[in-house]
Amino acid sequence: MDIFNGIAQRLNALKIAFHYTPELAPESSLHPDELASIAHASPLRRREFAAGRLCAREAVRTLGVAGDISLPRGQFRQPIFPPGIAGSISHTDGMTCAAAAFARDYRALGIDIQILGRTVSEDASAQILNGDEMEWISIPDGILTVFSIKEAFFKMTRCLTDTPYWFDKVSVRRTEKSDTLICMYSTPAGIFEKETEFRRNDRYIFSFCTLRADEKLTGINL
Ligand SMILES: CC(C)(COP(=O)(O)OP(=O)(O)OC[C@H]1O[C@@H](n2cnc3c(N)ncnc32)[C@H](O)[C@@H]1OP(=O)(O)O)[C@@H](O)C(=O)NCCC(=O)NCCS
Repeated sequence: MDIFNGIAQRLNALKIAFHYTPELAPESSLHPDELASIAHASPLRRREFAAGRLCAREAVRTLGVAGDISLPRGQFRQPIFPPGIAGSISHTDGMTCAAAAFARDYRALGIDIQILGRTVSEDASAQILNGDEMEWISIPDGILTVFSIKEAFFKMTRCLTDTPYWFDKVSVRRTEKSDTLICMYSTPAGIFEKETEFRRNDRYIFSFCTLRADEKLTGINL
């Protein structure tokens, strides 16, 4: 689990709390309003959802927020964190993690975890990768890396806009840092660029990006 300790340390240095669990959680741990939003899902999905809420609650508590914490689901299926808190949740193959920070520090966060070694179909690759990104096909787990980065970016930005968008609007480019790519999001107002970090070991890749409270998101952050 070294990767998760490293992630927690990196995020803590940015004043972001992080919590993870390799276990599903009982649905009895959900608040009634949380359970209502997942009532029609399979039992396994309800336990996965409960694990996400458990991690998110722990992350929020780590910030020092006390009391009863409920995280219902929003109109874009995003988790609604308590007032004054920004956060994000991700799952893969039984592993769940969540991050939370004060909204006075961050307007939005996006995290994503993927299990490595999965084969990505040609069709899926064609949806994930744009133009110059085709080089990632020949890199081991390269497509999953780009996918994870874009999913984290998507979660950070999606709730700030009423305009849905898809992978074709976001491209990545390398930086001098081996654990950071830049997401370039094309909006009618121009291209918004955002550094997105990732960490990987032989089993997982974890990506995250942050929008500081004072940062503008060109084109959609009016
Ligand atoms: C929303 C989405 C990113 C979730 O990713 P996923 O691979 O299904 O699964 P993850 O486990 O990583 O994330 C799921 C969690 O993301 C969160 N989430 C869901 N929709 C979200 C949204 N619109 N905004 C922010 N977070 C969201 C939820 O917490 C969810 O877990 P929960 O339902 O248990 O609460 C994905 O389903 C999706 O719709 N992607 C859009 C495709 C796309 O265009 N992506 C990239 C564009 S650059």
